[in-house]
Parts: sequence; structure tokens; C-alpha cells
Amino acid sequence: MKKREQWGTRTGFVLAAIGSAIGLGNIWRFPYVAYENGGGAFFIPYLFAMLTAGIPFMILEFGTGHKTRGSAPQIFARLSSKWEWVGWWQILVSFIISIYYVAIVGWSISYFFLAFNQGWGQDTGDFFFKTYLQLSDSPLEFGGIRWPIFASIAGAWGLCWFVLFKGVKKGIEAASKIFMPLLFIMILIITLRAVTLEGAYEGLNWMFKPDFGALLNFKVWMAAYGQIFFSLSIGFAIMLTYSSYLPKESDITNNAFITAFVNCGFSILCGVLVFSVLGNMALNQGVGVDEVVSSGVGLAFVTIPRAINSLPGPVLFGTLFFLALIFAGLSSMISICEVSVASLMEKFDIDRKKAVTIYCMVGLASGVVFATHSGLLVLDIVDRFINNFGVLAAGLVEIIFLTWVCRLEVVQDHINKISDFRVGSWWVFCLKIITPAVLGYMSIANLVGDIKTPYGRYPMNSLLYFGWFLVISILVLSFVFQADSLKKARK
Ligand code: ALA
Repeated sequence: MKKREQWGTRTGFVLAAIGSAIGLGNIWRFPYVAYENGGGAFFIPYLFAMLTAGIPFMILEFGTGHKTRGSAPQIFARLSSKWEWVGWWQILVSFIISIYYVAIVGWSISYFFLAFNQGWGQDTGDFFFKTYLQLSDSPLEFGGIRWPIFASIAGAWGLCWFVLFKGVKKGIEAASKIFMPLLFIMILIITLRAVTLEGAYEGLNWMFKPDFGALLNFKVWMAAYGQIFFSLSIGFAIMLTYSSYLPKESDITNNAFITAFVNCGFSILCGVLVFSVLGNMALNQGVGVDEVVSSGVGLAFVTIPRAINSLPGPVLFGTLFFLALIFAGLSSMISICEVSVASLMEKFDIDRKKAVTIYCMVGLASGVVFATHSGLLVLDIVDRFINNFGVLAAGLVEIIFLTWVCRLEVVQDHINKISDFRVGSWWVFCLKIITPAVLGYMSIANLVGDIKTPYGRYPMNSLLYFGWFLVISILVLSFVFQADSLKKARK
């Protein structure tokens, strides 16, 4: 048997886990979700979700990955050959995420260069949608490939390939040791600049003003759990894979706490950054912050560039912001790809270099749709479906399997033997009861919601192809992979 690759140091592993957790979700999603769901009061459900689901689940994934040591399908297969499909399901979910996540990293690379002379002009919305993306009217109106966008996406794949090619220690760990400190320094510099802008205080007031009434709303609690799952990269096999590279004697619990708290702190920092800038922008335009607030793609590529236009020293601020987006996106992207690379190596018995090269080539080719004129629209649909019916649903099945079907005490004992501190009955209760209940409720609510009200006023056939068909086919495919493994095992 080949020797499994390993992290060189504990710091290297923690930085890689933090790199996976900190991503686009922290920078462009968290500030808006917090603002929408009770402002300062949102921290109560957010911390609650982190302590009852996020950290316990991460400890479970770290512990299971470390004990079982394999790629996701192998981990599940070792626990029970009938459950290998869950691992494949997570791999396929991660594959789909990687091919659109990389598109956003690609756009960020383009915007990094545009930031040197604010090449996005005065009307940033017009520039992004009409000049840069040249967006079509419907997801199925592809209208050919936008080659400049394709080139940026290929560049992002190239960077990812380079890091993964070099392996766990020399590639992922080394990159995390460079990316993470730099990312923190960059975000800190622009946040310090942002809070000293005129109007920043007003912006922060909008974000942090607590609305305790929101705590009575169930949706606010669901938003907190949703943010925690995506942001901590749990439920999509990443933490299982990363922890499988830990040396024998490694702490589990403390590492999970550190990862989660650093991720949470970083999110708050991004909230301060984004709302200070929005406050300044609202002041300049003489409107309320509620009129300029946005999230996701709109925030990063339309609102922030518009705000940068009126800042003193726009070049430094703009380049640092987009570089931060690239670093945050790339480190998450690397982790998302690594789960598939690890399983390709095992399934087809090929070496890392081959697996990485095949994966990146296939990823670039299959993600070409995101470089067409309807790329953003397709991305929006795929993102919605894969999160609601991929990440959450696979996470639910995973946790039911690990806590109810398998014997949780076995992994609990393993964790307690090697960790800085022990997990006890609170951990078991959170994992067996709270997390499955929340995930189960969210999955059903999403399913009912999406059937009742089709998402985003898109034409039905595009929702069928890029949404329902996609999520169902990856589920079917995961059973096909399992059947193949079982057949080979019988021979
Ligand atoms: N955890 C990663 C993010 O927040 C996937 O973007």
C-alpha cells in the first residue's frame, strides 16, 4: 500500500482548514445575511448554530477522517460497503461546486487587473453585465464563449492545478501558509481604511443595530445554520479528506474550535469592511444604506467597484480587495478539488500528478458553460440547487449514517484519546438530535419551497436541466460508482 501523504505541521493543517472555510461565503454572503436577519441580534443564532452544529460536526468529520484515513468514498465504504455512495455523492457535489466557484475566482482575477485604473468605469452595473459578461436574456441562450472570461477561468484552474500538483505538504500546506496570513493582512489594511471613511459609522450602525424581534422568526435561525454549514465547509467531504492527512498523534477538538472561531472572526471583519464602505457610499449618494446594500455577485462586482470609484486611493483599495477575493476563493477552491483528487487517486490507482491534471482539464472543459454569455444565470441556478439539494441533503445523510447507523462511541473514544480536550454528552446530543433535526427541516422546507415557487423566475426548462436534472443525476451516479466498487470487490 502506498504511504498516505501527511501535513508537515499542525499549523499547516489548521491554516489549510481555515483556508477552506474562509471563502467567498465570508466576504460577500455573511455581511448581508447578518444585516437581513436581525443585524447585531443575528450573532445569537449564529453563535448558537456554530456551537450546536458547526463545531460538533467539524469535530466529527475531523475524527472520522483521521481514524478511517481515506478519501470520502473509501471512508464510507470502510464503515459499511452499502454506504459508499454517500462519499461519491459528496465528491460529485464538490465537483459541481468547483466548476462554478472557479468562474468567480476567474472574474475576480479580471477585476484585479481592472482595479489598476478602475476599468469598470462609472456605471459599474452596466459594465459588469453588459460589457464584461455580455449577459444573455435566458440561461439557455448561451451565445458562444466569452474568450476573455474563459482565459481568466483557465488562469484560476492553472493556479489550482499548480498547488494541488505539488501535493499535500508542499502544495496545499505551503500555499495556505502564504495565502492565509496575506489574506488577513490585506483585509485588515482595507478594513482599517474603510472604518475611517466618512459615513462608515452610519453603515456599521445599519449592520450591527440589533433587532431582537428577529429572534422569534424561525427563518433567521435557518439562515444562521445555512451560513454555518456552507462557511465551515462541512458536509461536502472536505474536512474528512483534510483530516485524513493528519499524522497519527494529532489533536482534533481544539483544531476544530480554532478553525471555527477564526472563520467567524474573519466573517465579522468582512462585515465591518463591507458596511463601512456601504455607509460611505450611501453618504456620498445622499441615500440610506438600505438603498445601496447588496450581496453576492452584485456586491463584489457592482457595488464595491462603484464605492471604490469615489474613494481616495482607489487603486490600493481596489487591488487589495480583489486580491483578497482571489486568495479566499482559491484556498477554498483547492480544498473542494482535493476531495475529488484524493478519490480519483484511490479509485483508479493513479498518482497525484495524473489525477490532478485529469481533474483540472475535465473541470475546465465541463465548466465552459460558465464562460458563455449565460454563464451567470446558469451559475445562479446551479448554485441554488447544489446547495439546497446537494450540500445540505448529503450532509444530512452523512450525519444520520455516522451518528445513528455507525457507533458514535467508537469515533468519540478515538477523538478523546488524542485531543487536547474531550467531547462528552453535549457533543453526542448536538450530533444525534440537533443537527439532523435542523438539516432535516431545512431540506424539507427547501424542497417544498422550490416545488411551490420555482426559483428566480427562470424558464422552467432551464430549472429542469441545470437544477432538478443535475441534482438527481449526481445522486444516481453515486450509486453507479458504488455498484462498480461492489462488483470489483466480488471479483
Ligand atoms: N467555505 C467556503 C466559503 O465560504 C466554501 O466560500
